[in-house]
Amino acid sequence: MRARFFQHHNMSDTEILSSLPPGKNPALRVVPMPADANVHGDVFGGWIMAQVDIAGSIPAVERAQGRVATVAVNSFLFRHPVFVGDLVSVYADIVKTGRTSITVSVEVYAQRMRHSNEIVKVTEATLTYVATDDNRQPRVLPKV
Ligand SMILES: CC(C)(COP(=O)(O)OP(=O)(O)OC[C@H]1O[C@@H](n2cnc3c(N)ncnc32)[C@H](O)[C@@H]1OP(=O)(O)O)[C@@H](O)C(=O)NCCC(=O)NCCS
Repeated sequence: MRARFFQHHNMSDTEILSSLPPGKNPALRVVPMPADANVHGDVFGGWIMAQVDIAGSIPAVERAQGRVATVAVNSFLFRHPVFVGDLVSVYADIVKTGRTSITVSVEVYAQRMRHSNEIVKVTEATLTYVATDDNRQPRVLPKV
């Protein structure tokens, strides 16, 4: 039986995880810098949205075998803040494909490098990308 990878520590409703999701590779790993912070010193939501869009586009480009454009952000939930200096890991998985579109589920984990390495799932989002041609028009997805 596979070991549970998280434990509940009941700290202000935050799920503190003991490891990142096992057996999965993040699409992106990045450390936000002070320039990515808002006026209160925590990481600006727009920075996280940009990382999510970039990470989500990676499996989409692979599946489309070429350029894609983001057509929709279907859902976006900031569960917990991200702090400057956290190690941010972004996981992206295709959950649906259509004729020209690819829908990707994105999960963001922050490892609090400055606070005993706790790991927290901070953001969940679902985005849809459209495969596009050289004229930026929708393109039918290649067969798998
Ligand atoms: C992406 C773009 C090329 C799609 O062109 P379009 O003429 O609207 O395309 P269509 O209506 O044929 O839809 C294409 C696909 O997108 C899907 N789609 C369109 N709107 C959607 C929405 N709001 N949510 C989810 N999927 C959507 C359609 O269902 C279709 O999927 P399918 O072929 O798998 O069934 C065009 O909308 C565009 O250029 N948008 C700007 C993209 C961009 O610049 N993004 C970066 C942000 S600045």
